[in-house]
Amino acid sequence: MNPPRKLHIKSYGCQMNVYDAQRMVDTLAGEGFVETSRVDEADLVILNTCHIREKASEKVYSELGRLRAVKDDAARGGRHMNIVVAGCVAQAEGQEIIRRAPVVDVVVGPQSYHHLPELLAHAKRHGRALETEFPVEDKFGFLPPPGADAIRARGISSFVTVQEGCDKFCTFCVVPYTRGTEVSRPVAKIVDDVARLADNGVREITLIGQNVNAYHGEGPDGRTWSLGTLLHRLADISGIARLRYSTSHPRDVDDTLIAAHRDLAVLMPFVHLPVQSGSDRILAAMNRKHTTDDYRAVIDRFRAVRQDIAFSSDFIVGFPGETEEDFAGTLALVTQIGYAGAYSFKYSPRPGTPAADMRETVSAADMDERLVRLQELIDSQQSAFNRAAIGRTVDVLFERSARNPGQIVGRTAYLQPAHVMASPDIIGQVLPVRIESLERYSLLGELTVSANARPVQPASSQIANSSQITMGA
Ligand code: 5AD
Ligand code: SF4
Repeated sequence: MNPPRKLHIKSYGCQMNVYDAQRMVDTLAGEGFVETSRVDEADLVILNTCHIREKASEKVYSELGRLRAVKDDAARGGRHMNIVVAGCVAQAEGQEIIRRAPVVDVVVGPQSYHHLPELLAHAKRHGRALETEFPVEDKFGFLPPPGADAIRARGISSFVTVQEGCDKFCTFCVVPYTRGTEVSRPVAKIVDDVARLADNGVREITLIGQNVNAYHGEGPDGRTWSLGTLLHRLADISGIARLRYSTSHPRDVDDTLIAAHRDLAVLMPFVHLPVQSGSDRILAAMNRKHTTDDYRAVIDRFRAVRQDIAFSSDFIVGFPGETEEDFAGTLALVTQIGYAGAYSFKYSPRPGTPAADMRETVSAADMDERLVRLQELIDSQQSAFNRAAIGRTVDVLFERSARNPGQIVGRTAYLQPAHVMASPDIIGQVLPVRIESLERYSLLGELTVSANARPVQPASSQIANSSQITMGA
């Protein structure tokens, strides 16, 4: 028998890239590949790239420069190393990568990575392979499900893609071009995926999609189901303690989603709802299809059914034409809503998007200064939100052993990391914790009940990372 070949995969960007990377690993497991964290011993290196902001493609080319040296070293040792560029930069710049980077064997877009085995075989025969079409078939129909061992190794929290692509065409955003038009997976497939994960110890599912609440999948009754209806169905799957979803668009919040927050205890009261700007003029130029009033009204609908709900958001500063007055609107909106946290970015022109051609650009100095002011405000809200937990008893889902010996770390409903001294037996359980202090962004506390030890396979180092950048919407 041949020894297993080794695969090293490096993912940039959003949660969907983390998910896609796992599915690539699952696909290549069938070809005899095992994952390695060491790039120098890999037979296959995949860069799963992100194109959402900044000099994404330049980062890819400099990483490829470093990989060329590693590949040359391997060749000197008589070993051929294959290099694959996947993800959204691959989609946006396929031919250009082939032209500029001879070190690359395969370029594959996010909708085609189920063809990786064939593409690698093609590259072996013909030198190189490129696939950046949006194939007519749905990749999910072809991706093998993860094995039981892989699920357990990935920990008790898992992403499941339910929807991909976006039809909103915000003028700054590449997603509709790199991920394509909105496609929703059928309910039955999602239920199968979640049940399999739950059977193998997963307790928390985050449904992901670039515009997840635009979900409109085929239901088992032949009707089109919304995200709220899907959440009601998934809440019935035994073993699932927590459900989340990300990333939502304010315009696609419907009554079924609000009802899900009213009715489902397993649906966490923490919603990522990007608004991007607090100026109606800029929202219109962004083609967001909502005003600040619309956004406030949506927030109110959530709050009416779930008083303990908290929100996070994404903001862009320095969109073309943004004046000091527009920016003051953003600060005012943040102050009014009161976020548990938020991501903020300097506007970065994406080639091919309408905003990239807008002339009235904001100076780098103004952007820097606005970003600092916005981040200070968001940080102060986040700190206040975290401090408010001190002295309270909150439910924590325990995920893994922490760095400090004897400590176990989990997350609250609001994704705040919480540490307690306890036995690893509590991993996978939701237990009440009395919060005693806050250290930077982490809560420290004590279990208020003695854990009803229910051994669960210990989670590995890989957990859902809430500090990761968000996607879409
Ligand atoms: N420039 C800056 N930020 C952007 N985002 C998306 N496109 C751009 C861009 N061109 C941000 C948005 C989005 C998040 C995922 O990334 O805030 O919600
Ligand atoms: Fe779609 Fe979100 Fe990008 Fe707008 S920002 S085009 S809603 S993915």
